[in-house]
Amino acid sequence: MILIKLGGSVITDKSQYRTFSRETVSRLCREIADSGRDCIVVHGAGSYGHIMAKRFSLQDGYSGKEQIPAVAKVQQDVRELSSMVIGELISAGIPAVSVPPGSCFVMDGGKLVADNDEAIRALKEMGIMPVMFGDVVMDRKKGFGICSGDQLMEVLARIFDPEMSIFVSDIDGLYLSDPKKDPGAEFVPEVTREILERISSEQSSDDVTGGVAGKMGSMLSMCAEKRACILLNGTVPGRLESALRGKNVRCTTARV
Ligand code: IPE
Repeated sequence: MILIKLGGSVITDKSQYRTFSRETVSRLCREIADSGRDCIVVHGAGSYGHIMAKRFSLQDGYSGKEQIPAVAKVQQDVRELSSMVIGELISAGIPAVSVPPGSCFVMDGGKLVADNDEAIRALKEMGIMPVMFGDVVMDRKKGFGICSGDQLMEVLARIFDPEMSIFVSDIDGLYLSDPKKDPGAEFVPEVTREILERISSEQSSDDVTGGVAGKMGSMLSMCAEKRACILLNGTVPGRLESALRGKNVRCTTARV
C-alpha cells in the first residue's frame, strides 16, 4: 500500500481564500487510479485552512472566544474542500470517503492521539479509501489546535505500514534556498537530518503548520521506520503516476 499526501499547494491556490484547483486534482486522481496501485490519500488544507487559521492564530490554541466562529468556519471550509477531493476520486473510479480528523481524533499538546482507528481500518478492509485531511482538532491542553496532513501521514503510516509514502507538492523537492525567490537555488535529491538542520532556519513560510521544513521532518520520522518516503511535484503531469509505477522521477528522497 502507498500513502499519498496531496499538498494544499497543488489542490488549491494558496494565495487566494478558498480556491480549488479542480483540473489538477482531477488529473492527479486519474493518475492514482491508472497506476493500479493500492493507495490511501491524505490532503492538505491550502487556502481553505491556512489563511483563516493564521488570521485567528488557531495553531496556538484557545486564547479567546472571538476565535470560536473561526474554528467552526475553518472546519466547514476544509470539509467542503475534502468533499470536492472525494468527488474527483469517485469520478476517477476510486470509492473514497472523507474522514474528518477533528471528528474522530483529539490532540494532546499538539500531538495527535489517534487510538480510535477502528472505522478507518474497517473502511480500508471493505475496499473503501478513508481520506483524512488537515483540520482543526480539539486539544486536551490547548483547547484546540491545527492537525496537519503531514501529522496524519505519520499516524496512518503507523496504522497501515505502507511500502512507500509520497508527498505531492508544487515544487520538485527540497532546495537549499527558496526556489520561488532564488532561481539559482540548489536542489537536494536526498535529505538527511543534518541537511534539514542547515536549511530549516533559513526558509520562512505563511503556513500555520511549518512549510517545507516541517514536511521534511515528518518525512524523516516516517522513513525511520524503513520506508521509502519522497517529495515530488504534482503540477507536472504524469510524475505521480510514474512514481507510483516504481519509475525513477525527479524528487527528494528522505534518508535516515
Ligand atoms: C493544514 O493542513 C490544516 C489547516 C490549516 C486547517 P496542512 O498543513 O496539511 O495543509 P497544506 O498541505 O500545508 O496546505
